[in-house]
Amino acid sequence: MSGFVFPEGFVWGSATAAYQIEGAAKEDGRGPSIWDTYSHTPGRTRNGDTGDVAADHYHRWAEDVEQIAALGLGAYRFSISWPRVQPGGSGDFNAAGVDFYSRLVDRLLELGIAPVATLYHWDLPQELEDAGGWPARDTAARFADYAAGIVGALGDRVHTWTTFNEPWCSAYLGYASGVHAPGRTEPAAALAAVHHLNLAHGLAGRVIRDLAPAARLSVTLNLHVIRPASDSAADRDAVRRIDALANRAFLGPMLDGAYPADLLADTAAVTDWSFVRDGDERTAAVPLDVLGVNYYATTLVRAWDGASPRSEADGHGASAHTPWVGAGDVEFLPQPGPHTAMGWNIDPGGLTELLLRLRREYPGQPLMITENGAAFDDVVAPDGAVHDDERVDYLRRHIAAVGDALAGGADVRGYFVWSLLDNFEWAYGYDRRFGIIRVDYDTLARTWKDSAHWYRRLATTNRLPD
Ligand code: NOJ
Repeated sequence: MSGFVFPEGFVWGSATAAYQIEGAAKEDGRGPSIWDTYSHTPGRTRNGDTGDVAADHYHRWAEDVEQIAALGLGAYRFSISWPRVQPGGSGDFNAAGVDFYSRLVDRLLELGIAPVATLYHWDLPQELEDAGGWPARDTAARFADYAAGIVGALGDRVHTWTTFNEPWCSAYLGYASGVHAPGRTEPAAALAAVHHLNLAHGLAGRVIRDLAPAARLSVTLNLHVIRPASDSAADRDAVRRIDALANRAFLGPMLDGAYPADLLADTAAVTDWSFVRDGDERTAAVPLDVLGVNYYATTLVRAWDGASPRSEADGHGASAHTPWVGAGDVEFLPQPGPHTAMGWNIDPGGLTELLLRLRREYPGQPLMITENGAAFDDVVAPDGAVHDDERVDYLRRHIAAVGDALAGGADVRGYFVWSLLDNFEWAYGYDRRFGIIRVDYDTLARTWKDSAHWYRRLATTNRLPD
């Protein structure tokens, strides 16, 4: 695939998220989010790290946008902090917060960079969690109101609006395993959260269509590529169960307007799904201009015999902690290497497989890689450079895998590297670096890693460099 030429108009971008880079947690009227509360709770994040300062992007945004331009990128995917623009999650909007994103969008447009804005990348206003969080139906209505306010303000200046980033994480990690904010461990609540996230997506999607008719509408899912340990019927059924919980729990309502019957049956002992009201599933199915796909690694499962100790180590790290509601007899197996610093296996072929599956199951649905990238233990050379060959190799192989999917007929419109900058990696704090630009957390200085130079060559030539 080296030398592969991408189609004209293929979008090259980079991605970030508000809580991971902005800092300024208490400035200009921003309210607290569940991630402020969680990260300030002892024992929740590595080294007790918080997003209070992060990469200080709130103050350095203009410099960061210049970096995006210097990288030659055509698009920038960022998220809007709900508690910055509507501090309590309902009622009044905060003009200073809205202005911050308005200035960001205007500057991106001046530089010819398409703004791709995500409404929700995990920072729920704390007041809404106090009122029940995503397991409560009212949160979906609050989300639609928030969407109306911010989309009303930024509207068609935003090229693509994305409702949610990885609702799988918000539901299962936030409410089942508790390794993400708000840190609850209630399986039935996690499934109610799944539903209210789907519902909120549909409600907000309709608001976006009305208020910004020229913008594109999308959602970003972290779809799992799940492999069976053997070809036995039991192992293949383990794949089916995890596929239902991880993938089809979102694809079903959002793209087909219905939950899959096997998901409801598998989880019947956990919940009766009575929180799903007539019409909700159809509401969730708002037509998407583009489906965003985040991809990092694959997952290996096998049926558990109920006797031997159950393995819970899987290739996607966080899943290992996830009590998979209704998937009781499934084991997650450790994956063969190589691994990234997250412990995730490197498996570019899984990305091609996933994109071709989506082409088969949702023909005509345009796709976008909204995140892909890797954490490695970066070393700063004496001259200040970071020769991150492993990251370059990871990116090269995954972007080549996108090329394979294109050659196989998948309608992939673009690729966003995660991430523009080193940032707050949630429960891992600042210990894990995903940036193509290094952030020195003492001085907050930005330095291009070799991967940034490599990515610039790709973005400016549209051709995979050697
Ligand atoms: C997915 C999430 O959207 C992002 O916030 C996170 O940092 C990356 N994966 C890496 O874990």
